Amino acid sequence: SLLDGGAKPLKGRSAIVTSGPTHEPIDPVRYIANRSSGRQGHAIATALAKLGANVTLVSGPVTIADPAGVKTIHVERAEEMRDAVLGLLPADIAVMVAAVADWRVATSSDQKIKKQPGDAPPMLALTENPDILKTIGHHANRPKLVIGFAAETQNVEDNARLKLARKGADLIVANDVSPDSGIMGGERNRVKLITRDGIEDWPDMDKNTVADHLARKITQMLETS
Ligand code: CTP
Ligand code: CA
Repeated sequence: SLLDGGAKPLKGRSAIVTSGPTHEPIDPVRYIANRSSGRQGHAIATALAKLGANVTLVSGPVTIADPAGVKTIHVERAEEMRDAVLGLLPADIAVMVAAVADWRVATSSDQKIKKQPGDAPPMLALTENPDILKTIGHHANRPKLVIGFAAETQNVEDNARLKLARKGADLIVANDVSPDSGIMGGERNRVKLITRDGIEDWPDMDKNTVADHLARKITQMLETS
């Protein structure tokens, strides 16, 4: 990696990173989920740690290993992820990479929902999950640097700019997660960085390389803020 064996400019800084999907229970055996693998978030946690940061990763359910050199907290639901993140404040840096489920089942069943001959399929009423990035971006104990991702399938730049403002973030890393992009769940990523000052369009890279460059960018932003 381009960060191996180098200086530790983030020594003494603490970072919170979220990664992976969340699972929102329907009943004890079923849940709502999404295609996030956790690769990009885990790689960012690793990259920040390589630069000397004290990193805690809050991860939803993923099949990849916990990163080395990072403390990992495992959660399932968005509300658990929110509680874990808030419990880690204060921190210098927050990078919210998780694909948090936007909705959960309003009243999940504590018993397995059964088919009954002749019954109509169950209606699942949904309710909105807490927005963890927005909560952190507007928190009294807000980290110096708050970074979010924007998973979009259309109007990537405009949507990312709106998210930057609404969520109180310093940087939004936008990507096109259309099925034909192969990004969601894949090995590579192509991102645009949106700040209040402008936009950077990065070439397609593997997710570890995106993470290394992003860790460098974060270091620069901290030094100039
Ligand atoms: N995010 C979050 N909590 C949520 C939803 C999103 O912390 N409940 C964070 C994500 O981790 C990401 C950013 O907000 O850093 C944007 O997520 P995204 O799904 O792209 O945006 P939403 O605000 O959920 O809007 P939409 O899905 O409708 O595009
Ligand atoms: Ca969302």
